[in-house]
Amino acid sequence: MTKSNEEKLPEKIPTHVAIIMDGNGRWARARGLPRLAGHRAGVENLRRVIEACVEFGIQYLTIYAFSTENWDRPRAEVRGLINILEDVIDRELKELHENGVQLRHIGDLEPLRPKLQEKVRHAIELTRDNRKLVLTVAWNYGGRAEIVHAIQKMLADGISEGEIDEELVGRYLFTAESPDPDLVIRTSGELRVSNFLIWQSAYSEWYITPTFWPDFGREELLQALCDYSQRERRFGRVPGAISQS
Ligand code: IPE
Ligand code: IPE
Ligand code: MG
Repeated sequence: MTKSNEEKLPEKIPTHVAIIMDGNGRWARARGLPRLAGHRAGVENLRRVIEACVEFGIQYLTIYAFSTENWDRPRAEVRGLINILEDVIDRELKELHENGVQLRHIGDLEPLRPKLQEKVRHAIELTRDNRKLVLTVAWNYGGRAEIVHAIQKMLADGISEGEIDEELVGRYLFTAESPDPDLVIRTSGELRVSNFLIWQSAYSEWYITPTFWPDFGREELLQALCDYSQRERRFGRVPGAISQS
């Protein structure tokens, strides 16, 4: 439901939105709270953003939750982030499933305890036929690690040099089943990709906002969608060429 009768959704809604959920630590610090309180607030916000994505008709949402580089944070923070992952599955899976959300994971689950890996796999299996929104969680994900993994798999499968093209590489990435993101959002104002979907975002549009992730709500998502709707995606061609072809 829209909040106001006058509110109009933009014409072009991206099929796939990917979000670098950044700024939890600074959000907490600004309130004199520990960093983990920021991460917990970030999870609460994620619920709102998922609901808004469903409302706006976005089909794929990919969220960057833990990077391959985030292991270098203090042990207690890493442990806290792992606990949050487990808590979210325990507390939210039922409702996500009832709301038609299909869960996917990209990255490497191997460093997690077997019981937690099992929970993630169960969540993916349970929700595999849901169609309302595909929610892909990038956890222990890095774009470079993903490409290395793809090359290793191609070699293991005996792929020959002549068979390798962009389409085949795409099929060896963790994201083989998803379209490339149309729009990448980064909160907290950082102007960098931080190893997120580096192959897949080659022609994505970007929306960067100074808002810290726990404060990035429905209204600002709508703002990002309006912004996106004004863009002309040219994919290297001349203006107007896409709609004519
Ligand atoms: C993003 O918030 C969440 C993760 C990287 C897990 P940060 O924890 O990076 O927050 P800042 O950037 O320190 O404010
Ligand atoms: C990117 O944020 C990773 C996630 C949001 C999970 P970081 O806070 O880790 O990125 P840098 O260190 O500022 O580049
Ligand atoms: Mg950060």
